[in-house]
Amino acid sequence: MSKVEGFRVRNYRVLHDIILGKLWNTQIARPLTPITAVIGKNGVGKSTIFDTFSFLVDCLKNGVEEACDSRGRGGFERIRSEGQEGSIEFEYLL
Ligand SMILES: Nc1ncnc2c1ncn2[C@@H]1O[C@H](COP(=O)(O)OP(=O)(O)O)[C@@H](O)[C@H]1O
Ligand SMILES: [Mg+2]
Repeated sequence: MSKVEGFRVRNYRVLHDIILGKLWNTQIARPLTPITAVIGKNGVGKSTIFDTFSFLVDCLKNGVEEACDSRGRGGFERIRSEGQEGSIEFEYLL
């Protein structure tokens, strides 16, 4: 089974630009370990991190438009980080 060594999320809700673990072009960062604990105060985006995985699954299964509207996400304009004009981006190192 492939393992996620790292990922980057841009412009997805409160996650303006986060990197966890290692990406193909980051030399110094360490890859995620088999268990990752996500800790932080309310509203920092912990649940949103997990929703990015569900969102991608929904995109692949049902298409982007339906994914934006499903699970109470409320559509593209509510998903994209407030005040941002750029695209929502996901990058994974497996
Ligand atoms: N489109 C958006 N742009 C910016 N912030 C957003 C957007 N959608 C939701 N948020 C913010 O995300 C926060 C909730 O994130 P959440 O992942 O539930 O936090 P946690 O699970 O860490 O408590 C709220 O503060 C909310 O205002
Ligand atoms: Mg939460």
